[in-house]
Amino acid sequence: MSAEALLSVEGLTVGFNTEEGPVRVVEDVSFSVVAGETLGLVGESGCGKSVTAQTIMRLLPSPPARIDGGRIRFEGEDLVVLPEPRMRKVRGDRIGMVFQEPMTSLNPTQRIGRQIAEVLALHRGMNYTQAKESVIDALRKVGIGNAERRLDQYPHELSGGLRQRVMIAMAIVCRPKLLIADEPTTALDVTIQAQIMELLKALQRELGLAILLITHDLGMVAEMCRSLAVMYAGRIVETGPAATVFARPRHPYTAGLLSSSPRQARRGERLPSIPGLVPPPGKRSTGCSFADRCGRVTDRCRRELPPLASFGAGAAACWNPVP
Ligand SMILES: Nc1ncnc2c1ncn2[C@@H]1O[C@H](COP(=O)(O)OP(=O)(O)OP(=O)(O)O)[C@@H](O)[C@H]1O
Ligand code: SF4
Ligand SMILES: [Mg+2]
Repeated sequence: MSAEALLSVEGLTVGFNTEEGPVRVVEDVSFSVVAGETLGLVGESGCGKSVTAQTIMRLLPSPPARIDGGRIRFEGEDLVVLPEPRMRKVRGDRIGMVFQEPMTSLNPTQRIGRQIAEVLALHRGMNYTQAKESVIDALRKVGIGNAERRLDQYPHELSGGLRQRVMIAMAIVCRPKLLIADEPTTALDVTIQAQIMELLKALQRELGLAILLITHDLGMVAEMCRSLAVMYAGRIVETGPAATVFARPRHPYTAGLLSSSPRQARRGERLPSIPGLVPPPGKRSTGCSFADRCGRVTDRCRRELPPLASFGAGAAACWNPVP
């Protein structure tokens, strides 16, 4: 792990207690996010991206969720073992988070100015009058004009794009070093998606924000991310500088994801589909989880789990990497 990593996830393993017994959904996941840079985390639905993000924020109720191993180093602390009262100071203050669906994360009965001010009340002990200037400043930073007037509006009075801007304002109002954005534009139409991405880039420049960007959109990764981690069936299967991985993917799964747009993934395109299905948690073999869908599979793949091995600036977990 590089010395300048702001967030470094090491061997993270997360499971759930279910009616059929415990299942692992995230296994031995490692990646790091460098201060001021963006790491893209991609992979098909159900591969464990959101569970990983929510585990970093310690948002999953336990039980049923369990962290079975690993470390989450952030600014000198291990978030896995941080006591909950101290974790509350990290969440929303030192790490901001934006989700896919702003309507479910905003309180429909409270004016947006109050909601943003609550973050400052919690972390800075400010009352509404004290917080108001910072709230207006945060609204301006996220490109919401007429900020004074917007303060008194309710979430349902805003468009989807504006609601997502309000969520971003809440996430940055305490000036975090890290923003976790879990499919921040998926619920929005393409023009608005582009605007939100421009906003995230501008905030990154202005605030020196590091971003963990979870997305299905490879075009967004190409445009936003310096590095990339590809997740499949709960594990990281390839990681490296985004430009390197795009130019020469080594894992067959990554190659499959990139295959429909070999030259350049275009913005707004979802991950292309690869024939077959991701094996669900609890139904994964001891070998490579991609074996049933892989054109390069050999006997060894089904028997032995391929470890992440270095390839130049990146790494891939495959016995027969793409040449
Ligand atoms: N509370 C839970 N109990 C049991 N399994 C769960 C629970 N929450 C999530 N899972 C399982 O964990 C796996 C990973 O889910 P996760 O939401 O992290 O996927 P994802 O990569 O974010 O997918 P998407 O791209 O669709 O958002 C899924 O198989 C899901 O069914
Ligand atoms: S380890 Fe084998 S099955 Fe898995 S991706 Fe590599 S070649 Fe395919
Ligand atoms: Mg998700």
